[in-house]
Amino acid sequence: MLQPEIQLTADGSHTLFIPEMDEHYHSINGAIQESTHVFIDAGLRQCQKKIIRILELGFGTGLNAFLSYIESKNTGIRIYYTGLEKYPLPTGLVEKLNYGELNPHGNEIYLEMHRCAWNIPVQITTDFILEKISVDFSEFDFRGTYDVVYYDAFAPDKQTNVWTQEIFDNLFSCMNSGGILTTYCAKGSVRRMMIQSGFKVERIPGPPGKRQMLRAQKPSKYTSQ
Ligand SMILES: C[S@@+](CC[C@H](N)C(=O)[O-])C[C@H]1O[C@@H](n2cnc3c(N)ncnc32)[C@H](O)[C@@H]1O
Repeated sequence: MLQPEIQLTADGSHTLFIPEMDEHYHSINGAIQESTHVFIDAGLRQCQKKIIRILELGFGTGLNAFLSYIESKNTGIRIYYTGLEKYPLPTGLVEKLNYGELNPHGNEIYLEMHRCAWNIPVQITTDFILEKISVDFSEFDFRGTYDVVYYDAFAPDKQTNVWTQEIFDNLFSCMNSGGILTTYCAKGSVRRMMIQSGFKVERIPGPPGKRQMLRAQKPSKYTSQ
C-alpha cells in the first residue's frame, strides 16, 4: 500500500506526494489552480447542458469532484458525477487536506464526499449526485452517456498501463456526441491514441508551470451509446 504525504502547493492548497513513485497528485504550482484550469475551465464549463454527467478517472483526493460541486452550486446545473478509484484514501488523511477550508462552501460537503458509501449513487445535495466506484480503470465496465470526462491518472511516464488505446476507445464509446475529455497531459503519444479512438483533439494552454494540455471532443456526428 502506497503512503501519500501531504504537501503545500504554490497557491496555498494541499496536494499528496507518493515517495515510492516520486509522483504528486497535482501540480506543485497550485493544486486548486491546476484542477480549476484543466477540468473546470477547459472541461465542465465547455458543456452547455443543464444536466451533466461527468466521469473521472482517478477520484483520489476528490478535489475535482468538490470543484465541480461548487460550479454546480454557482450555476444551477445538475451534475451526476462518477469517480473511479483503485486506491481510496484513508479518511484520516483526507480530513487533513485544506480544500474545504479554503473555500466558502465549506468542509462539510467535501468530507461528506469522502465519508459517503462507495459503489452506489449518493445524493450529496439536490443538484450533485456522486457515485464513487472502487475499481481498476482497466476493469471498469465503460457503459453510459457521459458529457465530460476528467482524465486524471498519474503521469504516463509513472504509470504507462493506464494510458492505453483500449481505455481511450472505451471512453470514446461511453461519451455523448459533442462530449469533452480533458487531461493535464500534453504528450504526443496520448494525443495520437485519442485521435485513433475518433476524438477531435486540440492542444490548449496548460495551467501555470505547464505550457500545454490536451482537450478531446467526440465529434457531433456520433450518436449516444
Ligand atoms: C493524479 S492522481 C489524481 C487524483 C484526483 N483526481 C485528485 O484530484 O486528487 C491519480 C489517481 O488515480 C488513481 N489510480 C491510479 N491507478 C489507477 C487504476 N489503475 N485504476 C483506478 N485508479 C487508479 C490513484 O490512486 C490516484 O488517486
